Amino acid sequence: MAREFSTVGVVGLGTMGAGIVEVFARNGIDVVAVEISAPALERGRATLKGSTDRAVAKGKLAEADRDALHERVHFKVGLDALHSVDLVIEAVPEHLDLKQRIFAELDRVCRPETILATNTSSLSVTEISVATSRPNQVIGIHFFNPAPVMKLVEVVRTVVTAPEVVADVEALCARLGKVDVTINDRAGFIANALLFGYLNHAVGMFESHYATREDIDAAMKLGCGLPMGPLALMDLIGLDTAYEILDTMYRRGGRDRRHAPVPLLKQMVTAGLLGRKSGRGFYTYERPGSPVVVPDEATPLATESALADGARAITKVGVVGSGTMATGIIEVFAKAGYEVVSVTRGMEKSAKVCEAVKTSLNKGVVRGKLAEADRDAALGRISWSATLDHLADVDLVVEAVVEELSVKKALFASLDEICKPGVVLATTTSSLPVIDVAMATHRPADVVGLHFFNPAPVMPLVEVVRTIRTSPEATATARAVCAALGKTGVVCGDRSGFIVNALLFPYLNDAVKMLEASYSTADDIDHAMKLGCGYPMGPFELLDVVGLDVALAIQRELYLELREPGFAPAPLLEHLVTAGYLGRKTRRGFRDHSHR
Ligand SMILES: NC(=O)c1ccc[n+]([C@@H]2O[C@H](COP(=O)([O-])OP(=O)(O)OC[C@H]3O[C@@H](n4cnc5c(N)ncnc54)[C@H](O)[C@@H]3O)[C@@H](O)[C@H]2O)c1
Repeated sequence: MAREFSTVGVVGLGTMGAGIVEVFARNGIDVVAVEISAPALERGRATLKGSTDRAVAKGKLAEADRDALHERVHFKVGLDALHSVDLVIEAVPEHLDLKQRIFAELDRVCRPETILATNTSSLSVTEISVATSRPNQVIGIHFFNPAPVMKLVEVVRTVVTAPEVVADVEALCARLGKVDVTINDRAGFIANALLFGYLNHAVGMFESHYATREDIDAAMKLGCGLPMGPLALMDLIGLDTAYEILDTMYRRGGRDRRHAPVPLLKQMVTAGLLGRKSGRGFYTYERPGSPVVVPDEATPLATESALADGARAITKVGVVGSGTMATGIIEVFAKAGYEVVSVTRGMEKSAKVCEAVKTSLNKGVVRGKLAEADRDAALGRISWSATLDHLADVDLVVEAVVEELSVKKALFASLDEICKPGVVLATTTSSLPVIDVAMATHRPADVVGLHFFNPAPVMPLVEVVRTIRTSPEATATARAVCAALGKTGVVCGDRSGFIVNALLFPYLNDAVKMLEASYSTADDIDHAMKLGCGYPMGPFELLDVVGLDVALAIQRELYLELREPGFAPAPLLEHLVTAGYLGRKTRRGFRDHSHR
């Protein structure tokens, strides 16, 4: 029989604590909600009220249920109020000494059988537990932000946590409607260990002016389907909390430089820019605690006027190549009303590409997304050629040939001879340096990267890559073209992986390392990222879709260019590729797909 929890205590009613109170009270459990001072208590009460009022306004909570929920919560200053609760969850700031002091005090105040839990993200539950006389009744219950919304709870057992305490807490999580993964005590557990290297890397990109905050966030939302971009997520987490988590993970997790907090973070914390809770972090909010972003001095001007910024007029576009990307890109431009000249290496290839474009457009018609007349008009705008000479009068060329530098360089040298002056020359490379391609021409200022995502007609993101020689006009033109295609163009520097792959693949690689270390299972890791962070797919699901060989190649490139030891490909990934387990395409990757 699992233990009954009728009253729980929550210590600290900040970003997490207030949400945790709501989770318990919503599920019919009485809560003693404790803060350090009367003003802090009032802030916690206001947070709970705001959150439940929003739930009522959205029709997710009945008014009567909200009122009953509030009646279950007893707000108190000081830990003495916790003398008769069955379980305490501590959610005070991420400092070991503070948590140890609180646990020693809880040990004194609470009944001997009370379970003492910490919501720490990165500190050692074991170290916290030894501040009490009952380390076997101490456990980690790690909720995700916002606690009422995110389904995941990481249950952290130490080497001394009693098995029945673990079982009781697991049963409690089920009663709260949460999905739990139970793991050992390691810095960052599953989700944060995989998340924070990525978040810190994104802050580093912003700090080094590699891309703007809006572009970094848009890239990860639109390129990976994440619910929020990394900088908006940092603001939600709280920069002070994020700093402490990174700092602890760096010290506890083997001094991985990727967890050494980017200097900008410390500066922002010192300056009081803590994110949503203080009204300003990477973005500016309507008021402290509000989720509503308001424009500030860093907000880009309205798209239209920014696009007018030296962008050249484009009406006719050449697309070189006959693969998946070229085919998709031809369709995208033709549908958007551009005249398109497709150039392949022979009329047979052209016929194939033409068929593929027709098939794709027809699918749009069948699904009711495209009128027949629009399909015909789009096809009518495309001319098919097997010679580059037909690109003499286009305004933009998009190259999407094989991913080999020598081939691309030779092609750009030819384009340089054939194309009229002022043309923007774009490469869709996903891994080669754009500058290498640009220097094969006598007009590197006109060369950009236009990194489309697969399938190009569907994916809303394009990375616009500017090299150190690209002119502002060429960049503005590329961005304007993306907007005219109905896509979001994000501008970034010419570094391996651009924004999306540079942030995504090291995270996937870290997940493989975590699996390899037997810290958790592929299923639990996938669950953790989906239910704790709202990712559309877990890392192993995604790796099987992307292809393990593709992931390994990208990871190798990143490692070679950035020489970051933490980017070294996971040996398990290499072994699986060597064994021919490449993912769905070979029916076996991290999972067996043969029966599907
Ligand atoms: N922010 C997140 O996204 C997130 C997610 C999961 C877990 N966590 C963890 O939750 C914990 C709390 O983080 P947070 O972001 O909610 O911090 P926060 O700064 O938003 O809130 C901390 C609260 O604790 C209160 N407090 C401080 N000392 C206290 C004391 N002695 N007694 C009672 N209350 C006290 C403060 O007044 C404040 O309201 C940390 O361990 C953090 O790592 C945070």
